[in-house]
Amino acid sequence: MSTDQIVRTFVEYFEERGHQRITGSTLLPPPGNPVLFTTSGMHPLTPYLEGRPHPLGRRLVNVQRCLRTTDLEEVGDSTHLTVFEMLGSWSLGDYGGPTSLDWGYGLLTEGFGVDPGLIHATAFGGDDQSGPDTDSLRLWQERGVPVELTVEDNWWSNGPTGPCGPDSEIFLWTGDSPPESTPTGDDRWVEVWNHVMMRHRRLPDGSLVPLPQRNIDTGLGLERLASLLQGRRSVFECDVFDPWRRLVPGLWQLDELSLRLVYDHLRSAVVVIGDGVRPANTGRGYVLRRLVRRVLTVLRRDDPSRGLGDLPDELIEHTLDHFCQGEDPEVVRRVLIEEERRFGRLLERGRQVLARPRFQGPLSEEDLHYLHDTHGLPRDLVLNLRETV
Ligand code: SER
Repeated sequence: MSTDQIVRTFVEYFEERGHQRITGSTLLPPPGNPVLFTTSGMHPLTPYLEGRPHPLGRRLVNVQRCLRTTDLEEVGDSTHLTVFEMLGSWSLGDYGGPTSLDWGYGLLTEGFGVDPGLIHATAFGGDDQSGPDTDSLRLWQERGVPVELTVEDNWWSNGPTGPCGPDSEIFLWTGDSPPESTPTGDDRWVEVWNHVMMRHRRLPDGSLVPLPQRNIDTGLGLERLASLLQGRRSVFECDVFDPWRRLVPGLWQLDELSLRLVYDHLRSAVVVIGDGVRPANTGRGYVLRRLVRRVLTVLRRDDPSRGLGDLPDELIEHTLDHFCQGEDPEVVRRVLIEEERRFGRLLERGRQVLARPRFQGPLSEEDLHYLHDTHGLPRDLVLNLRETV
């Protein structure tokens, strides 16, 4: 099943159950939201989770692009991407958690053909502020699905304050041998779908108060599910990355881990630029800058002549099309190349400064601050240069 078919199946399944499709938003969260980028489907919907009536009603379904920088260091493993898509279903004060989980189980097993024997669930076991999620536990037991209770892993929040609640997560077994252990005990259990019972708000003093309505917010990672349904070992092998796998290895000979980083970061950079962000030293622009610089560092490690000017148009166009972004591919290319030039100049300056006698021994914290504040050389760039000069 291709990712397009997965999206269609998901959306139609929820439409048949009274949900209205809403268009996903860009990666830029609405004003007032504490996050830099949209990291989950709930951000554009926060006012409606907090009680404002949504013009399309109480049941919604969507596909939302998300960006998670917390996962940047994990990119390259089989399940993490910087930019990914989340399929979401929403009950804004309408049906409850067991209905959502039951539909989720039905869609996975009947709609997507997942073997019920390869499913494991987790649910909130309770803490001193909120009791155990017995509704989810009962639903899973009735369906014969094994369920593990945890505390921190099954509580979802958007930050230290704001809407939050217990969640129940659905994991699929990815091992070659029959399923064993539990999601916290064996990472061959991969989380694909989170159902959050978003019914509390955390106040700055840490206490919980009920939201005006009891909501359900679910998020299913599209590329993860696609790779599992397509029988692939990693998200980089699902159909979303077909053009990248076809074009990049012939262009730049890199090991598999480096290729994955290049696919992920360049694709993410294109989407971020497509949403109007430009490289900068702070905020969103700095995330973009880091993505591009990490790619350049990998590309130039073995061959300094490699550059983004060689990036095939098709990859930029395919990405902008996939995310329905109207940005001109030539503009995206120019932003990437300009950033590459700036990085080149910075590296040159870095090499010259680091050649000074003062920096020949081990670098102190004070040196690193000086290099950053006076010469604009970020810590990771300095440390990288020290390994190579
Ligand atoms: N907000 C939840 C998550 O991001 C479910 O969509 O996992």
